[in-house]
Amino acid sequence: MLVSLKHVIDMAEKGNFCIPAFNVYNMESAMGVIKAAEETNAPIIMQVYPRLMKEETGYYLSPVILAAAKKASVPVCFHLDHGPSELETTRSLRYGATGIMLDGSTLPFEENIALTKRVVETCEYVGVQVEGELGHVGTTADSDFDEFTRPEDAKKFVEETGVLCLAVAVGTAHGKYKKPPKLDIERIKAIREATNNTALVLHGGSGVPDEEIKKAVKAGIRKMNFATDICYAFLDTCLEELQKPDRAIAIDNFMKKPIEAVKDFCITRIKLVNADGKAL
Ligand code: 13P
Repeated sequence: MLVSLKHVIDMAEKGNFCIPAFNVYNMESAMGVIKAAEETNAPIIMQVYPRLMKEETGYYLSPVILAAAKKASVPVCFHLDHGPSELETTRSLRYGATGIMLDGSTLPFEENIALTKRVVETCEYVGVQVEGELGHVGTTADSDFDEFTRPEDAKKFVEETGVLCLAVAVGTAHGKYKKPPKLDIERIKAIREATNNTALVLHGGSGVPDEEIKKAVKAGIRKMNFATDICYAFLDTCLEELQKPDRAIAIDNFMKKPIEAVKDFCITRIKLVNADGKAL
């Protein structure tokens, strides 16, 4: 069933677990994600990068995500990931998103607050909640990614913007890590405490060692994002299939194995963050 961001985050808070948020890029990746959620009876978030909402892909992909969410036996939130401006956030609302991220993390602090607050107010008109970001989570290609979130800034940010949840910089980055990251678990705890237990979000979940993920969930991470590893699961399987002389040629048949690969990967993450069996 299609639900709001608040619905799944509340479930995670009450049940003391974490909602996995999977980035999808096309119908097949969305199918793999939904199959994983249904097989494990887990509430999940399906999210899309803002460039997809800017390009025509979002126009076609949004109805696919909505159809999958509405048909699913488990709660599914359709979320915009890293919305940089009101263009993407407003368009995503029109496309039916039930959760919005406004990422103003590269802006000066006060500008981040002002833009995020404006988007929170607009989203409130249509009953949608917002994820903000403070302390920039960069990419693994950056030379260093240590602009960590400060608990006292997080407190002010949450109070002034009214975000439902907050993405924090605590040692992760987007993409494939050159060496496994070590998370600042104490900082996660301190931000939780400073923000009156606001739900915290961990970006850059691909490649984070399982033990670090477990500790982060225990410390108060309520939403964790996975994108890069979904791409690898999908594309590596396509490449393997292409090597086989007896491969399927009809595209729908060819796609069956990549869909399964996405499903198998997502099941491992759902179990790791303790979301399995939590759909009721
Ligand atoms: P990864 O691509 O590193 O999994 O990060 C995903 C993410 O945080 C999306 O916002």
